[in-house]
Amino acid sequence: MKRVITYGTFDLLHYGHINLLRRAKEQGDYLVVVLSTDEFNWEQKQKKCYFSYEQRKHLLEAIRYVDLVVPETSWEQKRKDVHIYNIDSFVMGDDWRGKFDFLKEEGVEVIYLPRTPEISTSQIKKDLESKN
Ligand code: CTP
Repeated sequence: MKRVITYGTFDLLHYGHINLLRRAKEQGDYLVVVLSTDEFNWEQKQKKCYFSYEQRKHLLEAIRYVDLVVPETSWEQKRKDVHIYNIDSFVMGDDWRGKFDFLKEEGVEVIYLPRTPEISTSQIKKDLESKN
């Protein structure tokens, strides 16, 4: 069984996220999503989530492509995660191109998938703000 891993915040879940998760799952048979905790998101990415970690986790667990959701609490955990979860392929959107190539040293295939154009959580927030 080929095991795939991906990382993200997945706040205000949108079709760009679903596209990413579908294509990530297509790379193998089992998909692990490592989901940024609220603390990690705020302290490391300076982003405040609309939905809490538990709410975002429940949403992801309801998606047919997702097999397991676990917390992301540090940038460094990736090197360990790929061994803990016995990962074959690491997948991210291509806004992260090149950033995680070091995982090849851990024997993992590193894949950057094209982002779905014109949609992001930040864009949704901006659009809603400008409408109000
Ligand atoms: N993603 C994608 N296409 C989009 C938006 C996101 O493929 N239009 C991918 C990202 O590249 C990443 C994953 O979905 O691999 C989770 O991204 P995340 O940062 O949580 O979502 P964004 O919508 O990009 O959020 P933000 O605007 O806050 O950065």
